[in-house]
Amino acid sequence: MIHDRRTFLVVTGAAIAAAALPFTAGAAEPMKIGIIGSGRVGSAIGAVWVKAGHEVMFSSRNIEHDRALAADLGAGARAGTPREAAAFGEVVMVSVPYGALPQVGKDLADLIEGKVVIDTCNPFPNRDGEIADWAREKGAGLASAELMPGARLVRAFNAIGARRMGTAYREPGRVGMPIAGDDAKAIKIASRLIREIGYEPVLIGGLAMGRYLVPGTALAGERSAEEIRAIAADLD
Ligand SMILES: NC(=O)c1ccc[n+]([C@@H]2O[C@H](COP(=O)([O-])OP(=O)(O)OC[C@H]3O[C@@H](n4cnc5c(N)ncnc54)[C@H](OP(=O)(O)O)[C@@H]3O)[C@@H](O)[C@H]2O)c1
Repeated sequence: MIHDRRTFLVVTGAAIAAAALPFTAGAAEPMKIGIIGSGRVGSAIGAVWVKAGHEVMFSSRNIEHDRALAADLGAGARAGTPREAAAFGEVVMVSVPYGALPQVGKDLADLIEGKVVIDTCNPFPNRDGEIADWAREKGAGLASAELMPGARLVRAFNAIGARRMGTAYREPGRVGMPIAGDDAKAIKIASRLIREIGYEPVLIGGLAMGRYLVPGTALAGERSAEEIRAIAADLD
């Protein structure tokens, strides 16, 4: 059941984008992915992972929204609580406002420890309050790592508009996706999932480099992998 306009827009946006996808044959190795925060980013990326053949559990604090989203996306999509999604996923994507991250990190701590966690969250002081000032000062990669200790964190999907996230598959590899992480296995798995939905992943460095993976930096916006490599080479 669709309860409000925001739910309607998010659900229909994700479903429309996913319905247009040509790839329904299934991923070579289907994975279980738990999504924490099924708003613009979580629903858009989750929808294309479903279409790519993965099993995706969507979660937020509004289970009705997540049930509607999963029903629209069909087989491969399901809804749960954030803890259920974190337990379900071999990979977890956290996509909540940064202000919610301290609580989310605490609530899910025992479940995400040791797991590959993709962090799309950006700190904005006007939206997220003091935690955003702290995170910007520290750098978003290291800050997220402190808020989600033990997770095998990869920052990704941080500075491309959510509206475009479900469309990269149309021209695979045209747009690069800068990512940052310290864990080789997590980087490999995240890279594969990113590539499967049309982006060419470009590792720009460890989590300390995650400070450049926020809107407003030289890496923000849609760029080719080659452009990202050239820009990243000049960052320190
Ligand atoms: N929008 C973009 O273009 C874009 C692009 C790149 C990165 N980002 C970043 O990615 C993150 C998500 O952005 P968005 O645009 O998808 O935001 P959004 O549309 O507002 O969605 C946020 C989601 O998080 C859920 N949420 C909030 N607090 C929660 C909590 N304590 N526990 C569990 N779920 C919670 C919300 O649902 P409930 O409130 O119902 O729980 C909602 O599903 C943000 O940090 C943003 O800065 C956004």
